[in-house]
Amino acid sequence: MIYFGGDYNPEQWPADVVEEDVALMRRAGVNIATVGVFSWSDLEPEPGRYEFGWLDRVLGRLHDAGIGVALATPTASPPPWFTLAHPGAMPVTADGVRLTHGSRDTYCVSAPAYRAAARNIVAELAERYAHHPALTMWHVHNEYGTDCRCDVTAAAFRSWLEKKHGDLDVLNEVWTTSFWSQRYSDWAQIMPPRATQYLPNPAHVLDFRRFLSDELLGGFIEQRDLLRAANPDVPITTNFVQGGWVSVDHARWAGEVDIVAVDHYPAATGAGADAETAFGGDLARGWGRGSWLLMETAPNLIYTPGRMHAKEPGQLTRNSLDYVARGSRGAMYFQWRQPRGGAELFHSALVPHAGPDSPVFREAVGLGRTLKALAPRLPEEPPAARVAVAWDAPSWWALQGGGLPSAEIDYLTAVQQAHRVLHRSGLAVDFVFPGMDDLRERLTAYDMVVLPHLFLVSDEAAAALRDFVASGGHLVVDHLSGIADPAGRIRLGGYPGAFRDVLGLRVVEWRPLAGGTPIALDNGDRGIRWSERVETAGAETLVRYAGDVLAGAPAITRNRHGAGTAWYVSPGLDDDALGRILDRVAAEAGVTPVLPGLPPHLTAVRRGDLLFLFNHGDVPGTVALPGSDPVTVQPGGFQCVESGRV
Ligand code: GAL
Repeated sequence: MIYFGGDYNPEQWPADVVEEDVALMRRAGVNIATVGVFSWSDLEPEPGRYEFGWLDRVLGRLHDAGIGVALATPTASPPPWFTLAHPGAMPVTADGVRLTHGSRDTYCVSAPAYRAAARNIVAELAERYAHHPALTMWHVHNEYGTDCRCDVTAAAFRSWLEKKHGDLDVLNEVWTTSFWSQRYSDWAQIMPPRATQYLPNPAHVLDFRRFLSDELLGGFIEQRDLLRAANPDVPITTNFVQGGWVSVDHARWAGEVDIVAVDHYPAATGAGADAETAFGGDLARGWGRGSWLLMETAPNLIYTPGRMHAKEPGQLTRNSLDYVARGSRGAMYFQWRQPRGGAELFHSALVPHAGPDSPVFREAVGLGRTLKALAPRLPEEPPAARVAVAWDAPSWWALQGGGLPSAEIDYLTAVQQAHRVLHRSGLAVDFVFPGMDDLRERLTAYDMVVLPHLFLVSDEAAAALRDFVASGGHLVVDHLSGIADPAGRIRLGGYPGAFRDVLGLRVVEWRPLAGGTPIALDNGDRGIRWSERVETAGAETLVRYAGDVLAGAPAITRNRHGAGTAWYVSPGLDDDALGRILDRVAAEAGVTPVLPGLPPHLTAVRRGDLLFLFNHGDVPGTVALPGSDPVTVQPGGFQCVESGRV
């Protein structure tokens, strides 16, 4: 079965609408509904007084209609009574402002009162529904990520730091607290990062981000264990959020859920927008070790700055199939029915304000049919890739701080660019996680690995990446990779300290470029955003800087190391220029596209015997397939080809 459905909020609607919903879900072929995500105030209107009647009725109706339920714990939004009874459990911003209810995600995960209230409602739900026949999976909380800097958090942060560093002298050393007289003489002096006079200590901020990720994970694990004890056979997940806002280290969290569930809201439009969907799907598959579930995406309009962008006809179907091709076990949406009011009343839904007589609902009905027909043909195995891009949440956090050499440095942009360029060349791309203990083992699956802005790297990860090259791999390192240790301290002796030897070079001076002022390269391309002075020590120079004081200095190099090759890309490049380099690396690594020779508006994803073809353009695309007739994919459409059969 391919899961098809989404967030369903019957608590917002009278009984007759719920009846209509069930009928419409059947018409669309919906087989799962996520229920109860923000329903705490409806489930427990007063402390200790529960109203489960409405939920009993909804679960019963859905079950009778053959629709499973991803039952949520409602802990992302405590009710107003909770706030007033426990003001100390409300989050405090870095500026010292204590927030109040009126929106959502307003809680301090370290606050004992919040944790107790959460355990309580979760235990009630577990007791009542753990063996309900409609229960397909538990959906814990919603997009963990709330940040708090209160005194309770401060105490929890200190315990975390004591456990991590053991000794205050060690913390002082790795945080470089002698800089600006920050040396701590007692654990009690350490605060969460709060508003302060000028730049904070980056090591302090980095440890706080790691702490927060672990602290939120503790909140998840507590709920998971309660639910698991009530019925060990029901899978438990929480929806990870992917995008520009990331409070937790999903690669670490992935080991704690039964299935990685991801919310992905691509916002790109126009030619090439499919790269964002591909990125989301490929990264989620990396977290999920091959298998994951698209828990939320938008059927149509999403909240984007400036104005909302409508999807093109067919785009909902094409993007959904793209996620499934990339390993998702389903296609689920936020949300089933568009609300009449509330903060997100203009966010799209499968049943919009216009009702079922609407383009989006008609497309949903067709999509339901397509997924049902595809389900028995969908192979178990995920797409196989020989290329991987590295993803590292702590490197992202480190590069979000102040005091960096250029305001144009953006971690997410760099990783997305590397992925996009490989994707445009038709290559299947996976992700690897240098912060995880299984890095060495995971690297064995690849011929080519790209490290975009892998700013922080541990000795163990650096050794695993060096050995990957020594044993025949092709490693591509860019500027800003391998610069610091996991605490954010610079690896001395010339950048990139972690990879100087494998690259056969050192970087002795950074020369960030002013926005819009590129630097010439001797192959006709231009460096943008970034340049630096590279001195080779064994590496072969492939491209040189051709302008500025760097004229003649190496810009792109290649170094044999053992049986493999390490490539260095010193300047920032646009997609075309980076594409030329990565194509060359791929060719030398013997990595080939999923389907060579595709026109640019077509993409192909292979899962076992099944080949998915997507046409993201506005003209038909014809594909010659070895051993069978050519296949034409209509504009905006897709085709599945199984061993020559369409
Ligand atoms: C998600 C969230 C949903 C809804 C949606 C809107 O991140 O989980 O509750 O807010 O965004 O795009």
